[in-house]
Amino acid sequence: MTCPRIESERLVLRPFAESDVDDYTAMLQAEPVRRALHLADDVGRWDAWSQMTGWLGQWELRGTGQWALEEKATGQFVGRTGLHHPERADWPGVEVGWVLRPEHWGRGYATEAARRAVGYAFYELDRDALCSVILPENTRSVAVARRLGFHLEEERVLSHLPSVAHGIWWLTRTEWELTRGAGKAGRRPTR
Ligand SMILES: CC(C)(COP(=O)(O)OP(=O)(O)OC[C@H]1O[C@@H](n2cnc3c(N)ncnc32)[C@H](O)[C@@H]1OP(=O)(O)O)[C@@H](O)C(=O)NCCC(=O)NCCS
Repeated sequence: MTCPRIESERLVLRPFAESDVDDYTAMLQAEPVRRALHLADDVGRWDAWSQMTGWLGQWELRGTGQWALEEKATGQFVGRTGLHHPERADWPGVEVGWVLRPEHWGRGYATEAARRAVGYAFYELDRDALCSVILPENTRSVAVARRLGFHLEEERVLSHLPSVAHGIWWLTRTEWELTRGAGKAGRRPTR
């Protein structure tokens, strides 16, 4: 399937385009993003381009992938969010993931886009459960997962980054329907 174009309140979730290479490269090179994702110091345009083609390819091959996030108010590229189901024996399942350019942190965009992605996975793809793979030190990412209602099930080492243990967070469709992605505090109804 081709990556669909969908929307949330303030964002367009759309397929990656060639014109995103500069912005995607800048996002990967931003120091807090590089640090959080354990990217190499010399991460650059090839990595950005190769990830973008990978996301588009994953949609085509598998029906999962990440969207480029565009701010409706400005048309700016603000990051990526979506689904990830790589061909790795120890990957726990269909993952929901999020990365924003640092200048767009602190506005609720990651949670808003991920909420839309979770709804898409449960109701368009008919998934029963979704995971999120997060380093315990990544408190901002953990906060996004918590706001969506994910719970930590285990910590373990995964082959893509063997030097550290990842937290494996899960959200079932039943949990989602009970909380509507508002998190345990019951804040911010989804729809
Ligand atoms: C993880 C990441 C996407 C989280 O970004 P974030 O901006 O903290 O998360 P959100 O976009 O959901 O924004 C939430 C914040 O916006 C605030 N906010 C402001 N306006 C808001 C609004 N209108 N609606 C909702 N929240 C709003 C919230 O109160 C919250 O603030 P807080 O951090 O002070 O509690 C970002 O830190 C990132 O890109 N990190 C690097 C990449 C990475 O680690 N990815 C995850 C790998 S597992």
